[in-house]
Amino acid sequence: MKKTVEDIKAMKKKEKIAVLTCYDYSFAKAMDGDVEVILVGDSLGNVVLGYERTKHVTMEDMIRHLDAVKRGAKETFIVVDMPFGSYDNKKDAVENARKLINAGADAVKPEGRAEIVKVLADNGIKVMGHIGLLPQSAKKLGMVGKEKKEAESIIEEAKKIEEAGAFSLVIESIPSSLGEEITNTLEIPTIGIGAGNRCDGQVLVSYDMLGLFPDFKPKFARQYMNLKEDIKKAISLYSKDVKEGKFPSKEEIPL
Ligand code: KIV
Repeated sequence: MKKTVEDIKAMKKKEKIAVLTCYDYSFAKAMDGDVEVILVGDSLGNVVLGYERTKHVTMEDMIRHLDAVKRGAKETFIVVDMPFGSYDNKKDAVENARKLINAGADAVKPEGRAEIVKVLADNGIKVMGHIGLLPQSAKKLGMVGKEKKEAESIIEEAKKIEEAGAFSLVIESIPSSLGEEITNTLEIPTIGIGAGNRCDGQVLVSYDMLGLFPDFKPKFARQYMNLKEDIKKAISLYSKDVKEGKFPSKEEIPL
């Protein structure tokens, strides 16, 4: 059965929360009911649209892919990323978050920005926060929070986002000791990506864990299969069959 915000919050310290990104109908059908949360992430920009950075993703992109995921995932709580530029001020944030909720999201996820989390929560919109590495605005991608001062400011930001009304918090690319400290400090569940094994849940980009994204492989992203290689093998078999006149066969020819 589809989880509610209360169910997800109640999982803290009881059961780990599994989250995966998803961008289309068929993948949504494949993962529906097997994870607690589907994130329609703006990593869409990297793994589906082929941009180097997520900041090129638009509201239209997010709505289009959310719509497809929504048709495939009937039993799973869906969070959608608010794309770069869609929450520059409070008014835009509320307007755009409402568009995403009206398009079928159960909750939205902006990066950082406790004051934006607060205005969304005050308007009755469910919010998953995001701290640590913030790919939309980071100068370079990689681990953050190794220095004491930076670690302290990440902890402060985590507390502010909780106080602002987020129901959970993604923490990305920070040392595992910091992931553990934030998890122990907050009452809401933390969902780690490259943040160690002490978080209340984990999220991965589905294309990374399936071995489908060719451009880079983060160290923390366990690869459960090599889908890119399997696809390549299948395509070369198909191409060979076409060239040798073996496809279509007699059974595959319409009468
Ligand atoms: O867009 C995304 O996939 C994300 C995850 C990295 C958490 O925000």
